Amino acid sequence: MKLLCVLLFALACLGSSYGDGFKCTLKPADIPSRWIDMVDPCIKILESQVKTEVEAAITYLAMGAHFARDTVNRPGFSKFFIESASEEREHAIKIIEYLLMRGQLTSDVSKLLKFPLKPMREEWNSGVEALTDALNLEAQVTRSIRDIIKTCETPPNSDYNDYHLVDYLTGDFLEEQYKGERDLAGKISTLGKMMISHGPLGEFLFDKKLLNGEV
Ligand SMILES: [Fe+2]
Repeated sequence: MKLLCVLLFALACLGSSYGDGFKCTLKPADIPSRWIDMVDPCIKILESQVKTEVEAAITYLAMGAHFARDTVNRPGFSKFFIESASEEREHAIKIIEYLLMRGQLTSDVSKLLKFPLKPMREEWNSGVEALTDALNLEAQVTRSIRDIIKTCETPPNSDYNDYHLVDYLTGDFLEEQYKGERDLAGKISTLGKMMISHGPLGEFLFDKKLLNGEV
């Protein structure tokens, strides 16, 4: 029992003397770096896309919260925009994962975000207004993805065409962008027609359809 007390005391002393100061003292592994082949302008512009995607997510989150307010109460719109926020967050994660796969993300993720991050706005006067903002936001994101493709295909001061990244962005990201833009344009069209024929009741009915995934 005495021995146990002495051991516990010794461990407590050791713990308090090291505190939070424990650090890994292992020497980093000596990994060859020739496999890391992305060029600087391409890395920088891809890194900046993380912030663009997170900002889009925050705008969608603001839209989702706006339509969920008791004074607005459009649960269909709110659900749709909250889901859109999750998709944008997923895009940011995919870019971070891509940078990690290529051995490029060597600093903290927080350095990519450059706070403060702000939504486009906090309130919308109607569903059509929010959907129109969403379509404009997506068009802006599409342009920024096209800029990355251009930069990584023909980077300034380099002849390094990053075929893999260009293919990934073109086939994966742009495909989703164009489908999303078409979906938003269709929603604006349907809602607009319902408002013309039913007035404010049109938005109420559209919201119900949105909630049930019928539009
Ligand atoms: Fe996105």
